[in-house]
Amino acid sequence: MAPFLVDLLYGSGMTDYALNVNNLCKAYHNGKEALTNVSLSVPRGSFFALLGPNGAGKSTLINIMADTVVPTSGSIELLGHDMFTERLWCKRNMGVVPQEVAFDPFFTPKEVLRMICGLYGQKPDMKWIEELLERLELAEHANKNTRQLSGGMRRRLLIAQALVHRPPLVVLDEPTAGVDVELRKRLWDYMRELNQKGTTILLTTHYLEEAEELCDHVAIIDQGKTIASSSMDELLHNVAGSYLWLRYEDDWCLLPEDEEVLATFFPRIDDGRLCLTLNRKDLKESTFHEAYDAAQKRFGAPLDAGVCQEDLEDVFLRLTQKEVFS
Ligand SMILES: Nc1ncnc2c1ncn2[C@@H]1O[C@H](COP(=O)(O)OP(=O)(O)O)[C@@H](O)[C@H]1O
Ligand SMILES: [Mg+2]
Repeated sequence: MAPFLVDLLYGSGMTDYALNVNNLCKAYHNGKEALTNVSLSVPRGSFFALLGPNGAGKSTLINIMADTVVPTSGSIELLGHDMFTERLWCKRNMGVVPQEVAFDPFFTPKEVLRMICGLYGQKPDMKWIEELLERLELAEHANKNTRQLSGGMRRRLLIAQALVHRPPLVVLDEPTAGVDVELRKRLWDYMRELNQKGTTILLTTHYLEEAEELCDHVAIIDQGKTIASSSMDELLHNVAGSYLWLRYEDDWCLLPEDEEVLATFFPRIDDGRLCLTLNRKDLKESTFHEAYDAAQKRFGAPLDAGVCQEDLEDVFLRLTQKEVFS
């Protein structure tokens, strides 16, 4: 968008980003460097997936936003406001659901939600609170003591807490972890609905299929470093390629010497199948016949074979997996 249009729409001095993370570093006291110069930008109105293997640093980044972890260096801006010097403004304009949270067990869900509004100097909007309780499937538990809620209900109450003051940005650390398939689908639907009504959503998840379907932007971090950050379409267009898969007998396996023979096709095993890369922007293109012939020469005719386009999960595994033979 042209800069003058951005100014016109968002007011001068504002950006079209909800969140800018700049060169964020975090070393824990034990010397563990959990984040190394992480930078990413979350466009306003986007539905943004922050992905990474376990231990990548996702929760560290989110806990820094939640003000429970202090960064070593770097900065974060929320809608142009510095998160560390304008903490109160940022708390009012953001809802964060960390992965692990201590709970205050002495109130009912309804009381908790009313209190949070008070905390941010807002009059509780009871209609909105009812809607949140309804959509997060807590309505029938609204007046129970939170001690009586199951783990899953408490997590949903945390999501309600993050939304109750209607912040323009909501940050959720694995909101659907351990949730059964049906409820997970309803939660994703609700998040999409909120996003369509204008809330910017940043979330972490291990459900890559759902992230690919629902999120329009994505960042991948690994070992504390950003390894990709773009729109979902761009990532899939620029990084995803196609591959030939071949299935052999059940006890088939790929040995290191096989990998050498097939090296030009970057062989890997997925779901017990041999996968050979055919075309990818960063590699020399191989034809189906070249790959198929090479595999056949080495292992004989496969039981079954086919060509697939890489999806988000394939790209994610390829970018973050270091050892094929682990
Ligand atoms: N409080 C802590 N003290 C020391 N190391 C930590 C602490 N919290 C997290 N880590 C380490 O920092 C790295 C990133 O962790 P985390 O941010 O939880 O990753 P993710 O959420 O992506 O799984 C991991 O190696 C983890 O063991
Ligand atoms: Mg985590």
